[in-house]
Amino acid sequence: MLSEELKEKFKYFFEKRGHKLVPSSSLIPDDETVLLTSAGMQQFVPFLSGEKDVKQKFGSIHLVSIQKCFRSADIEEIGDDTHHTFFEMFGNWSIGENKEGYFKQGAVDSALDFFVNEIGLPLEKLYVTVFKGNKDIPADSESMSIWLKKGISQERISEFGEEDNFWGPTATTGPCGPCSEIHYDRGEKYGCKMGCGPNCDKCKRFVELWNLVFMEYNKNEDGSFTKLPQRNVDTGIGFERLLALLQDKDSAYETDLFMPVIKSMEKSISYEENKRAFRIIADHLRGAVFLITDGVVPGKKEEGYILRRIIRRAIRFRKEILLNSFDDPLQEIIKKYSQWYPEINKDKIFSIINKEEESFQKTLREGIEKLNKISKDASSDELGKQLFFIYQSYGFPLDMSLEEIGITDTKDIREAFNKEFKKHQQVSRKGSEEKFGGLRKGAEGKEVMFHTATHLLHQALRNVLGDEVRQMGSDINKDRLRFDFSYGEKMTKKQIEDVENIVNQNIDEGIDVVKEEMNYQQAVNLGALAFFKDVYPDTVTVYSVGNFSKEVCGGPHVSNTSELGKFKILKEESSSAGVRRIKATLY
Ligand code: SER
Repeated sequence: MLSEELKEKFKYFFEKRGHKLVPSSSLIPDDETVLLTSAGMQQFVPFLSGEKDVKQKFGSIHLVSIQKCFRSADIEEIGDDTHHTFFEMFGNWSIGENKEGYFKQGAVDSALDFFVNEIGLPLEKLYVTVFKGNKDIPADSESMSIWLKKGISQERISEFGEEDNFWGPTATTGPCGPCSEIHYDRGEKYGCKMGCGPNCDKCKRFVELWNLVFMEYNKNEDGSFTKLPQRNVDTGIGFERLLALLQDKDSAYETDLFMPVIKSMEKSISYEENKRAFRIIADHLRGAVFLITDGVVPGKKEEGYILRRIIRRAIRFRKEILLNSFDDPLQEIIKKYSQWYPEINKDKIFSIINKEEESFQKTLREGIEKLNKISKDASSDELGKQLFFIYQSYGFPLDMSLEEIGITDTKDIREAFNKEFKKHQQVSRKGSEEKFGGLRKGAEGKEVMFHTATHLLHQALRNVLGDEVRQMGSDINKDRLRFDFSYGEKMTKKQIEDVENIVNQNIDEGIDVVKEEMNYQQAVNLGALAFFKDVYPDTVTVYSVGNFSKEVCGGPHVSNTSELGKFKILKEESSSAGVRRIKATLY
């Protein structure tokens, strides 16, 4: 089944069942708290919350849409089988079940009808997950019994917690609810043998296809949940994923959405020889086409920066496949999508991308000129510093610069470069500590508590994941703490639980937090965590929590860990390559 046919089928299936087709909203949302549209329900938030009248606006409480989405968080992972920056999401909605809509039963009925009868997925290959409940929200036993009655056997139904089976809100507050997902079993040959099932993170046997969200809660500022005035259904299917499955491909890059684009780039190097570069270029150009169509221009901030980044990244990877221009792949992308999105303006796209390319080439030339002026005979220290400057000013990765000036013995230079890098981080961190210092006067209790919890989290992560964990950034507001750290992989659920338990144990033990002034070297000798030694002053403040944690830090902190209450990790996700991000709270 080709991509257009699948879109038509989905659209007609729900239109036939009384759903109103709502056109995709722009990638730039009205909601200013989010940068880009990343889910189909975003344009419906005021209707899902009951704030606006859906019937008045769309003439129906049943809606269907195919929404343009963009997610930039996993940019470095593009190139594998499943990640995309831009993608499309299918969805159907029932907004206000207690008026005349449908809820769980109706959502499940139509989902199975579409999958099994409309597009022919065998029922016995479908697995489902349901919400097992937590301290705030009860288990979703209603969905469980609906699936059983629909012929999904017990062993194909599994229960998960809020990380997998609770959806939303998209911002920090708003409509959300338990969800039930349909997964597809691709067969044992994709599996990791022992006991794997939906959400297995070790193999590709199960693909998550459809997320049915039963939105009946609102998450409030203080983290509590209250019932919405109405119950809603919000569903979402990753179109690319479903298409790949229907075309029996491991990846959407190998379906009719991308293959013509990829073929048009095979000049000297074939796709098989460097799949990653071909995929990155195809993905990024498609993303750029849609961002430009929605009015974004390359720039230094926000969406503009994302657009600049993907265009420049595509240019860098173009070298790897010996391609001179984007003309052919862009033509193919525009041809493929113009039918569905007639607003795509070819001239505007070519002009913006060409201009950005010129400005990038100019930066490259200037950077290369600077590089050529660097004497290869300078000390490693000096070279490291200069290459860091080039990296900062022109965005040249170290490897590229070293290659350009033809240096092969790179160990000491790398060290010097990294030292400079850390020094720079320290400077920007000092800036944020000053900001934090400013908070001290009117410091709210919660923020001080989060600050101490951050130290406990840092040490707990090192205990569980190893000493390579280093703080890369941190941020605190009144609702949560955010902590970025170096680590190459997604944490497992067990690791997350272990970290939570260690932090909570230290809280339960009621340990005094001790502040001491000491000489920097002494602090390091005592094993205090401090990362940016080059610019620390001679005398530093060290905060210790018993023997558990010791960190060089400006404070402020609570005086005893028992003041923290209970610690909970809300989210663990990728922040950038090799850097993970945790959001956590105290309650
Ligand atoms: N909002 C849910 C999701 O994005 C279902 O559409 O998965």
